Amino acid sequence: MTFHALVPAAGFGARMGQELPKQYLPLAGQPMIFHALSTLCACPQIETVFVVLSPEDTQFKSYDLSRYGDKLQPLYCGGATRAESVTNGLVAAELESDDWVLVHDAARPCLTQAHLFKLIEELRNDDIGGLLAVPLADTLKRADGEGRVLRTESREQLWQAQTPQMFRAGLLVRALQQCKDVTDDASAIEALGLHPKLVACDTTNFKVTYPQDLLLAELLLNQAGK
Ligand code: CTP
Ligand code: MG
Repeated sequence: MTFHALVPAAGFGARMGQELPKQYLPLAGQPMIFHALSTLCACPQIETVFVVLSPEDTQFKSYDLSRYGDKLQPLYCGGATRAESVTNGLVAAELESDDWVLVHDAARPCLTQAHLFKLIEELRNDDIGGLLAVPLADTLKRADGEGRVLRTESREQLWQAQTPQMFRAGLLVRALQQCKDVTDDASAIEALGLHPKLVACDTTNFKVTYPQDLLLAELLLNQAGK
């Protein structure tokens, strides 16, 4: 059984509102992207870590990448959306159809070896694959379009999707080529009528999206000694 990771990192980070793309913002001593790349490269089960960059990216290769050796493979084929970046990366990586691929956002720097171990153990014998996710904790309100509550929605059986999302490479490319309008990989698999497995994670594996998220990520990473 072969496992690879693929990290889409070709976004701009519009919601972060800074000049530097989000994945390169300084975080606990290094650009954000290197936290997830280091964790994935240190995972013994993972053979290769592909990182999908924008064709215009000049930043990535300005850093010292020697500690990663050949395990880290940059691919300059990012697209206009996350789904397009992942699809282009999977095609360029030329993986075997049966290889497992763990797709992980560059913007989730607090991923740990324990998260990875759990995901791989729970899915390695699964027919479809799945994703790390967290059951919703807050009460959910649907708005009426004018900033007032229309109604309270049940949170029963609702989960927040995280990454990595782990699928067979062949199935995932096929799914994404057929279904381009998705914000995560599992959605494309679902569009084929399949049911990815939810692997319970915790909220520390959150996505850094807004400026205030940087502070929380920094606290977690410093506490973990990174
Ligand atoms: N991503 C990508 N290609 C794109 C858009 C996003 O590879 N065209 C990557 C981002 O770099 C990030 C991951 O997908 O690692 C998750 O996306 P998100 O958190 O939405 O990042 P951005 O799209 O950069 O941020 P925003 O939506 O605020 O612009
Ligand atoms: Mg985005």
